[in-house]
Amino acid sequence: MNSERRAFLKDTCKLCASIVGISIVLPAIEGCAPLNYYSAGVSNGKINVPLASFVEETNMVIVKDKSLNYQVAVIKQKDNSFRAFELKCTHQDNALIATKSSFVCSLHGSSYDLNGKVTNTPASTNLKEFPIEVINETIQIQYL
Ligand code: FES
Repeated sequence: MNSERRAFLKDTCKLCASIVGISIVLPAIEGCAPLNYYSAGVSNGKINVPLASFVEETNMVIVKDKSLNYQVAVIKQKDNSFRAFELKCTHQDNALIATKSSFVCSLHGSSYDLNGKVTNTPASTNLKEFPIEVINETIQIQYL
């Protein structure tokens, strides 16, 4: 093999490796991007989340508290309404990992979109959704 051909193959392999590397790293970076957390417990069967806890760059607040068995994702919809989902895998009750675009189970690989809908099995049931009311400047989640 002549040296020009060898150099061409070497450069081509580097380019391919770069493209593959970027396609693997970009989703991982998105998944590692900081999420917006808010600490709030249950009081009288409700969790109160101030509207101000939503920052401009994100449409999601993850509610966590030691009194909650599972975190709750509150998602702002395009029409400015809100939905809240329990981050518990419906397959075998494992806590889900939130990313900016999905909820993922580390046990057997189930995933859900931001509407709580199963996007990857083995889970077959969508996430539990809590009723919500917005009262003044507070999102009130009925933690049933
Ligand atoms: S417990 Fe989540 S996929 Fe099995």
